[in-house]
Amino acid sequence: MEYGPAPESQKEAQAWLEQRGRKFGLFIDNAWTEAGETFASTNPADGKELAQLTQATADDVDRAVQAARRAQPAWAALGGHGRAKIMYAIARLMQKHARLLAVLETLDNGKTIRETRDADLPLVARHFYHHAGWAQLLDEEFPGHRAVGVVGQIVPWNFPLLMLAWKIAPALAAGNTIVFKPAEFTPLTALLFAEICVQAGVPAGVVNIVTGDGRTGEAIVKHEGIDKLAFTGSTEVGRLIREATAGSGKKLSLELGGKSPYIVFEDADIDAAVEGLVDSIWFNQGQVCCAGSRLLVQESVEERFLKKLKARMDNLRLGSPLDKSTDIGALVDPIQRQRIHALVEAAREEGCEIYQPAACDIPAEGSWFAPTLITGASTSAAVAQAEIFGPVLVAMSFRTPAEAVQLANNTVYGLAACVWSENISLALDVAPQIKAGVVWINTANQFDAACGFGGYKESGYGREGGREGMVEYLVPVSEDARPALPAVAKLAAPKPAAASNDPFAIDRTAKLYIGGKQARPDGAYSRAIHGADGTFLGEIGEGNRKDIRNAVEAAHKASGWTKATAHNRAQVLYYIAENLAARGQEFADRIAAQTSSKNAEKEVQASIERLFYWAAWADKYDGAAHQPPMHGITVALNEAVGVIGIVCPNENPLLGFISLVAPAIAVGNRVVVVPSEAHPLTATDLYQVFDTSDLPGGVVNIVTGSADELARTLASHSDIDAIWRHDGSAAGCAEVEKLSAGSLKRTWTGGAKGRDWFSTQQAAGRTVLAHATQVKNIWIPYGV
Ligand code: NAI
Repeated sequence: MEYGPAPESQKEAQAWLEQRGRKFGLFIDNAWTEAGETFASTNPADGKELAQLTQATADDVDRAVQAARRAQPAWAALGGHGRAKIMYAIARLMQKHARLLAVLETLDNGKTIRETRDADLPLVARHFYHHAGWAQLLDEEFPGHRAVGVVGQIVPWNFPLLMLAWKIAPALAAGNTIVFKPAEFTPLTALLFAEICVQAGVPAGVVNIVTGDGRTGEAIVKHEGIDKLAFTGSTEVGRLIREATAGSGKKLSLELGGKSPYIVFEDADIDAAVEGLVDSIWFNQGQVCCAGSRLLVQESVEERFLKKLKARMDNLRLGSPLDKSTDIGALVDPIQRQRIHALVEAAREEGCEIYQPAACDIPAEGSWFAPTLITGASTSAAVAQAEIFGPVLVAMSFRTPAEAVQLANNTVYGLAACVWSENISLALDVAPQIKAGVVWINTANQFDAACGFGGYKESGYGREGGREGMVEYLVPVSEDARPALPAVAKLAAPKPAAASNDPFAIDRTAKLYIGGKQARPDGAYSRAIHGADGTFLGEIGEGNRKDIRNAVEAAHKASGWTKATAHNRAQVLYYIAENLAARGQEFADRIAAQTSSKNAEKEVQASIERLFYWAAWADKYDGAAHQPPMHGITVALNEAVGVIGIVCPNENPLLGFISLVAPAIAVGNRVVVVPSEAHPLTATDLYQVFDTSDLPGGVVNIVTGSADELARTLASHSDIDAIWRHDGSAAGCAEVEKLSAGSLKRTWTGGAKGRDWFSTQQAAGRTVLAHATQVKNIWIPYGV
């Protein structure tokens, strides 16, 4: 059967552009600036220019930030209900103008009207409704939190309006004001949104929209008046942003690239899985960060599956995006076409088989790419590893579930995955083993405002959507009360060793603690540790790069800890507390000798209580079961981050150590810890406590020595998933953040600000656990 053309009218969208002279300034303080230096936005389906946009300069960005700063206190003070009413008005207006927005989006981006009309716009409105709700409930649901302040938001071109909604809705709900930059290829719907903000009664300065390319993005990233950055885009730019913001104290969330596996087991509903795959890789021409771009199909059904898939590909209609029966629209820009073409041709030269539907007519004008299936690629081939970001699927097969998991995780990314099987036990066994922030079971590319979205590994960190997403736009008020630490803790001049009244002190060299065993430092160096009065107290091993490597390896081997039940982990923490209590006086004396603290006994007591506290949390940091409007539930699980490098505070050598290590291990992480550089002997005394407390070897590894040097090694290590640094070194924290960009580790740093480690507000609570976990959202069919 042949379809006749069913074009959507573009009359109103063109009239909207015409009325505005096809030339736009910037939207700052609820007013339009005169257009400055401009660039064109074109329709990728025919290459025709749609409008001229202003390339915002650093001065323009500064004006936008100033406007946002002025507006922020009043916007926050408006209260949850005040903001909710305005956000509700935005949602209503988005629905009212849905068709105009959908057509404008299709013209600017090249994506099909079916998708903008039926997927993007309904989700955009849903986002504003849902987050109007969070504004309303903010005080009740997030007590003790405030808005971050002014947020800079930078989005890509693949879902221009949807990404805008994902960014702007939670930021507004939390009471932040915004400087927003759409992608240079697709700025138009953001400008129409600016008009909607005015109609909805958004006060001046609350939402500011600046257009431009990466240079404008850089100006936002660097601006000192920005308190938080939220970025969606390529991993490459995400890395640059991490580096550029290192040490700035700006909060950061990154939603980056992906190479998501689409796993089909032999017992899957094959027709449904083929249909799901069409949605997964050919939705939006494959220009989707979570596209199911790697098909992993069980060998026994591979042939049947690929045959059906090819038949389905032959029926995909490529053509005018405004035609309501088009499946595949235009790519955003010829530059993307060239990138994709180069990757596919390289695969062909390497001997891969490339399948494209024979009858796929590529229009003469515009930027297009036929749906493509690549078979025969090796697991390390560029097409199997790189984010192609186009309508290109790479297929591979596997034999066993274990092999499927291994292949699925064989990527630097960890954004999403699909698992297809009619055997619910198998699907729910595989889902937790996949390192990805979203797992769809027997479905694909589902999104909802109530469900968190975001990645593991080099796919970034932070979540968008739901409660998890709201947290990204809030800070605990207790953070404001943190004191600035004195620059360097001054120790008295060392006294000669002979001054010690302990005759054995000279022989006492504490070793490192790796894999549950005491280990001599690789470099065979040690350093002397003196008390506050200069008395020689002992020696500690001077750890180096090799020791860190060994410790990380030991931590990886201790993966059984992550799989242990939370109940078991809690038992071990209680046991550590009990054994610490049994030697409480000894620890207090040692702390007093090192620090001259008058609070040493109090510190030991507080540490014991803190161990109880985190033991209590171990089996209570539950996730959530979301009920999105689709038929299904989304189970949001808090998973351990993995291996965390921890640099402890110098002060409170016991309580600081316990306050960081206990929450990390309570939720299943393994840690490599650099204890207080100035007073490390408390940590080395803990070895015996750990040994007698059933803590499996490798869960806590301790490397003593120079905090700066060891932190640097931890931050550059590619097998560490997160790094926490709280020793009060602002420069050290900045360095750690910069180095973390290499493998996009998550960071939690204290900068020059200290924490009152005795305060449960500053050193405990859910905020700490949020640093120790990452949320996996698993979409499960339910009640279908
Ligand atoms: P990109 O990451 O360069 O652009 C995304 C946004 O960042 C745009 O608004 C851009 O103007 C801005 N930007 C660029 N350089 C910046 C900088 N130094 N500082 C601050 N902002 C900056 O993505 P691009 O070049 O458009 O696409 C290239 C590739 O990136 C794609 O082929 C795809 O593989 C990947 N990509 C992934 C996305 C995702 O959602 N995961 C989205 C877009 C692109």
